[in-house]
Amino acid sequence: MTDYLTVEEDQPQSRTGAIKLHGPQAFEGMRKAGRLAAEILDALVPHVVPGVTTGELDDIVREHTLRGGGIPATLGYRGFTHSCCISINHVVCHGIPGDKKLKEGDIANIDVTVIVDGWHGDTSRMFLIGKAPVKAARLVQNTYECLMLGIEQAKPGNHLGDISHAIQVHAEAQRYSVVRDFCGHGVGQLFHDAPEVVHAGRPGTGPELRPGMFFTIEPMINIGKYAVKMLDDGWTAVTRDRSLSAQFEHSIGITETGCEIFTKSPAGLDCPPYL
Ligand code: MF3
Ligand code: CO
Ligand code: CO
Repeated sequence: MTDYLTVEEDQPQSRTGAIKLHGPQAFEGMRKAGRLAAEILDALVPHVVPGVTTGELDDIVREHTLRGGGIPATLGYRGFTHSCCISINHVVCHGIPGDKKLKEGDIANIDVTVIVDGWHGDTSRMFLIGKAPVKAARLVQNTYECLMLGIEQAKPGNHLGDISHAIQVHAEAQRYSVVRDFCGHGVGQLFHDAPEVVHAGRPGTGPELRPGMFFTIEPMINIGKYAVKMLDDGWTAVTRDRSLSAQFEHSIGITETGCEIFTKSPAGLDCPPYL
């Protein structure tokens, strides 16, 4: 049985396992947080070029977050010490910014989560560094389509499994695989909350979607097999077969008629090429 909980916005929230149903004030809070996170990714576009280090990009994210009145949610989160995650090529997610330089032909995911007035805006996009190989650009394009096809299923009366299924069908039609070890998640006043949003599954399964639910959809799609392995740093997840991996993420809220995407790019830069 799925447990739903209508929450009052002015109360501190805890992780109870129930799926929270939020009201209009919470939508307003998520709109602000989501917008700042999206603006940060927009602002990164001219900086994501060959030769820049992932640490330099992290500095830009942190400064922009603070200037925008937010706090980087990942800074100090479970021991993570940076303001975003940057995952290059075969890195699936949670890449740690540092001295590594981006080079021509790389693909990279930058994942930004900000807290504004207590609300979390969580979003990521892929970047092509210089001219990317066709097979990399094709993976990135298809992964974005997976996210948006999942979002199309995000409406009251549907189930989480409808989202998962739409993503899986599209990915597997291109002979890609869907990562199983990491999921989307409930989001709001907590960074990671119920429900778990898996990106592969059967239609009609899982919790029913109701107005007021907030969660992320963040499919990780691999050219090769879906198995991942964790590096010794305890964060960086890579594809076991070292094949390329791509990911996009939006934070959304279920409305009476469908959903609202809190993290859409105000500049229209949701997916490359960012001309
Ligand atoms: N932003 C990631 C997500 O989409 C979580 C990063 S947690 C960190 O859920 F600690 F790795 F930064
Ligand atoms: Co997330
Ligand atoms: Co994220």
